[in-house]
Amino acid sequence: MNVLVVGSGIAGLTAALHAHEAGHAVTVVTKGELGDGSTGYAQGGVAGMYGIGDSKEQHAADTLTAGAGLSEADAVDALVTDGVDRIAELIARGVAFDRDAEGSLLLGREAAHSHARIVHAGGDATGAAIARALVAAVRRASIEVIDHALLTDLVVVEGAVRGIRLLRGDHVSELSADAVILATGGAGHLYAHTTNPAGTTGDGIAAALRAGAAVADLEFVQFHPTILSAGPAFLISEAVRGEGATLLDEQGRRFVFDSHPDGELAPRDVVSRAIVRRAAVQGTPARLDATMLGRTTLTRRFPTIDRVTRERGFDWSTEPIPVTPAAHYLMGGIVTDLHGRSTIPGLFAVGEVARTGVHGANRLASNSLLEGAVFGARAAAALGEPWRFVSLRSLNERAAPVVERGAHRRGETPRLSSHFSRAALQQLMWDHVGLLRSEEGLRHALRTVRAWRARAVAPATLAEHEDANLLLLAEATASAALARPGSVGAHYRLSDAETRTPAPILETV
Ligand code: SIN
Repeated sequence: MNVLVVGSGIAGLTAALHAHEAGHAVTVVTKGELGDGSTGYAQGGVAGMYGIGDSKEQHAADTLTAGAGLSEADAVDALVTDGVDRIAELIARGVAFDRDAEGSLLLGREAAHSHARIVHAGGDATGAAIARALVAAVRRASIEVIDHALLTDLVVVEGAVRGIRLLRGDHVSELSADAVILATGGAGHLYAHTTNPAGTTGDGIAAALRAGAAVADLEFVQFHPTILSAGPAFLISEAVRGEGATLLDEQGRRFVFDSHPDGELAPRDVVSRAIVRRAAVQGTPARLDATMLGRTTLTRRFPTIDRVTRERGFDWSTEPIPVTPAAHYLMGGIVTDLHGRSTIPGLFAVGEVARTGVHGANRLASNSLLEGAVFGARAAAALGEPWRFVSLRSLNERAAPVVERGAHRRGETPRLSSHFSRAALQQLMWDHVGLLRSEEGLRHALRTVRAWRARAVAPATLAEHEDANLLLLAEATASAALARPGSVGAHYRLSDAETRTPAPILETV
């Protein structure tokens, strides 16, 4: 088959390598350079290596608990069942995960994991090691690569995806294919503060929405609790708290215990909300105290974080550092089955762009690289099989995003009027469709976004296409959040009492 893989993180490159090894003619299309994207930024690692007393069943149970009852058990089972082989494959492709003196893999722990089961490389540079190894494997295999190319739309012929439209520089072209595997990542740049790299503008999900594919769970946006609150967003891995670091308020008190009995190792959404509420009450950022780990451990285990915090003027071996949450990961996306198949024949989606059902309402830490590898391989294995439609049974009771088409015909992307700016959209989303959501705020965001979209005309440049994609996703995200009245996982609707006071509350016990 002639296969196009759009995106070059762990999911896209795994799919490309497996498809190539199965004899398909593969082309990888990427927005920047090969290997750019969120994978290279991942610090914590890959969950899925089980030590004494641990098992894939316990990993599955932790994943389901983090998903707050909305994960799909069969997707989680596929994740943990295939995960060990995918980690072995990464090692075989050259990823040097950290080992102890005897040569055994070192296992880290992060929040909401019942055991240490996370393999890491270069201490806190796991994603970079994986990206390097997979890019080298793609180069060795001489897989064709088209770089600096933006996906603008999917080509749909008689109800099936038959290719993609691309923008390269100012040149628009069309590539045909028997199958398209989208691996374009999430949409962190919907928000004013994000850990995601610059190109993360939801291009794949927006193209899928325009083509009519089912998209779900966009209201579930994960905010990572600990971003250095000084300079451009920089992640301080949860693995630091996994090693014992604590979160302190202005008085030096471990305030997260006010919100959850697991304190700093409570689920990410709980910790993030505790941090913003405490900061709102005190008027100063919360601080992450890693001093008890000592200089030697910090430098060896977290060399990247150690370097960047020092570059920004902090010595975290002697003083707590200021931290604040930022948009990190999108649990929702293009609805797929267990093989990455979407609701449109010929269209697969893998990695963060997909909604496989693994993450439910909240992703367990270090499950994303694993999901990318597992479902990238599963999608490649399904190429050439007779197409089966994904079942939407489990989604029937879920909120589907409602996007007004306005004056635009289906398949067209709108250009933005001068009233719009990307920064204004990102601030609107941060303020009203972020960590703490009120009905009034969501309605205001939706009205504003719809007004911006209604005044739009067709985009031409890369930035205009990205803006159009962000606006489309903003509308879909706000509408999905509005349609879900209660709080679950990362989606938190403020009660009337909470709207009046930002004080911390005990969220779950
Ligand atoms: C981290 O290292 O804290 C991020 C890992 C993840 O998002 O899974």
